[in-house]
Amino acid sequence: MGGHFQKSILITGGAGFIGSHVVRRFVSKYKEYRVFNLDALTYAGNLENLNDIEHESNYTFIKGDITDTEFINITFDQNKFDGVIHLAAESHVDRSITDPLSFVKTNVLGTVNLLNASLKLAKQNPNFKFYHISTDEVYGALGETGLFSENSPYSPNSPYSASKASSDHFVRAYGETYGLPYMISNCSNNYGPNQFPEKLIPLFINNIIRDKPLPVYGHGNYTRDWLYVIDHAMAIDLVYHEGKAGETYNIGGFNERKNIDLVELLCKVMDKKLDRANGSSEKLITFVKDRPGHDLRYAIDASKIKNELGWEPTVTFEQGLGQTIDWYLANQEWLDHVTSGDYREYYKKQYQH
Ligand code: NAD
Ligand code: DAU
Repeated sequence: MGGHFQKSILITGGAGFIGSHVVRRFVSKYKEYRVFNLDALTYAGNLENLNDIEHESNYTFIKGDITDTEFINITFDQNKFDGVIHLAAESHVDRSITDPLSFVKTNVLGTVNLLNASLKLAKQNPNFKFYHISTDEVYGALGETGLFSENSPYSPNSPYSASKASSDHFVRAYGETYGLPYMISNCSNNYGPNQFPEKLIPLFINNIIRDKPLPVYGHGNYTRDWLYVIDHAMAIDLVYHEGKAGETYNIGGFNERKNIDLVELLCKVMDKKLDRANGSSEKLITFVKDRPGHDLRYAIDASKIKNELGWEPTVTFEQGLGQTIDWYLANQEWLDHVTSGDYREYYKKQYQH
């Protein structure tokens, strides 16, 4: 610690999947910034994700809960951040269906706590900015055609997306009502190293390694637009530095896949990587009861961030998927650590089909 830093930035949720990639990027690239990572270390947060940078002199971890108003106010008063990149959230749609209230608490109340504390800093510092990391799920579901743009109406269908839509609205309202400088980005499905193995890609990689069934929801003809997490971290860096206050940016991978096609591709690649007979992983595919309120299709028009800020994905899906699988195969200890405890109990209940 110590040293003279030009700026201090608070990243919330930095021990989670996307947050850890953002923290790593900021700590390594911006030595002149003091980077604070505030995280409650829920089941989804793991400091092992940041082993490689935890001793850097410009990095500080703060364990804490964004729903704790007093703690947030004290932390902001003490550290006088120049900006906030807010990623801390409950992020898994299936969990939001069984426990909506914890999504309201963290995603709505937690965000409003951060906004209130930010307002005080913004009054003292005209360069202060609040950047909210959000999701394309706020726009609801698309049919077979069309793309979400920044002007698409909000139409959230799951408790998760309703909580993220609500937090987006609060951020915008704080901009309009109190003049808080803010940016919001709404991103499509991320995949890559360090993603908790409850989400489709890491769950299925983990299950193939362990020779367990691959539970495809419903008919499997649901479409998602996949983006490699490091490309998302690059976009977040760009929006934080170059984005205009009061603006929203959609971020996507220009990479739509039907779940069943993605799973079949994953199975083929896994057979090769594990040196198993062609077709062995595919045999694990099991069609199970559908997710209630399952959105048919998400697809993002990312032309605004491309045209205005010059961002595009750098990694193809085939490259990204290969790198992701290699990471999980090389980090099975990580998988063992994160899948102990709470997760096992949750999944015992979830998969009693
Ligand atoms: P994640 O679940 O992997 O990580 C969330 C992190 O937030 C964890 O480290 C957790 O400990 C922390 N956290 C949760 N509740 C907290 C609380 N009350 N106080 C402090 N910390 C808390 O999530 P992720 O997939 O990395 O997503 C990060 C953000 O990006 C979320 O806001 C999510 O809505 C958004 N997002 C995710 C995706 C995606 O595909 N994963 C896509 C678009 C947007
Ligand atoms: O679109 C962005 C969103 O992407 C983020 O905001 C969320 O935080 C993130 O969790 C993700 O939401 P999804 O619901 O799209 O991701 P998930 O990995 O849970 O599911 C992807 C698709 O795969 C979806 O159509 C449901 C299906 N699925 C998922 C799981 C976990 C299955 O068929 N079987 C499964 O076991």
